[in-house]
Amino acid sequence: MVKQELLEKYGLCRESIPGHVAIIMDGNGRWAKARHMPRTYGHKKGAERVKEIVRLSSDLGVGTLTLYAFSTENWKRPREEVGLLMGLIIEYLRKELRELWEENVRFYSIGDRDALPSEVRAVIEESEAETKENTGLNLVVAINYGGQDELVQAAKRLAEDFKAGKTELNQQAFEDRFYTAGLPAVDYVIRTSGELRMSNFLPYQAAYAELCFTQTLWPDFDAEQYVQALREYAGRNRRFGGI
Ligand code: FPP
Repeated sequence: MVKQELLEKYGLCRESIPGHVAIIMDGNGRWAKARHMPRTYGHKKGAERVKEIVRLSSDLGVGTLTLYAFSTENWKRPREEVGLLMGLIIEYLRKELRELWEENVRFYSIGDRDALPSEVRAVIEESEAETKENTGLNLVVAINYGGQDELVQAAKRLAEDFKAGKTELNQQAFEDRFYTAGLPAVDYVIRTSGELRMSNFLPYQAAYAELCFTQTLWPDFDAEQYVQALREYAGRNRRFGGI
């Protein structure tokens, strides 16, 4: 539910809030290293930030929030770290599901589910089913997601369906075969930790997105930082190729 008093408190107006925000939550490892702690500690702190940013997005009237939790390349990390990240996703969904439901949040996951541990798959499916009637914030968590892989899979499915005479070949038919089918294009990509790249995150969906790169490491990305990024967006002049 949009909280008008929060928008006013932060000097934001409803019309300038992006419909779809996508965040690359980077810098957990460096945050932990700076504190002489294991990387896993950084991820735990990062997961706490997720709660705050999801709630604030819902309160400020963001329509869709997509978070990059695990990429198809993240399997290269040490087993212990991969296990912890999967565990954090399970814990987050189990613990927060009720609260998400009460906030009218609808949960989606994008990415290749087949390669995920069965427990992760089960909690994703349960969370999607439980919240499917909700009409508030769409919370999309990218898990085992890779944009190039998504495009190749969609192209394959489109080709098969075309061959079987089930579809025409056009832009809409292609987009309908993405993990993000039915979700709006991305308006604003935020990447924390000072890295200036997209890392295979929503390459098609973010084609016209405004970009925000901040030096802040993800575990330090608090409400004030998020609001600052949203203020920056409000000042952008979007032309979509026009004048
Ligand atoms: C990048 O930091 C972060 C990740 C690969 C994982 C993001 C995951 C979370 C914030 C927690 C779990 C998510 C949810 C939705 C509960 P990095 O490890 O690459 O940092 P570094 O570049 O400093 O090493």
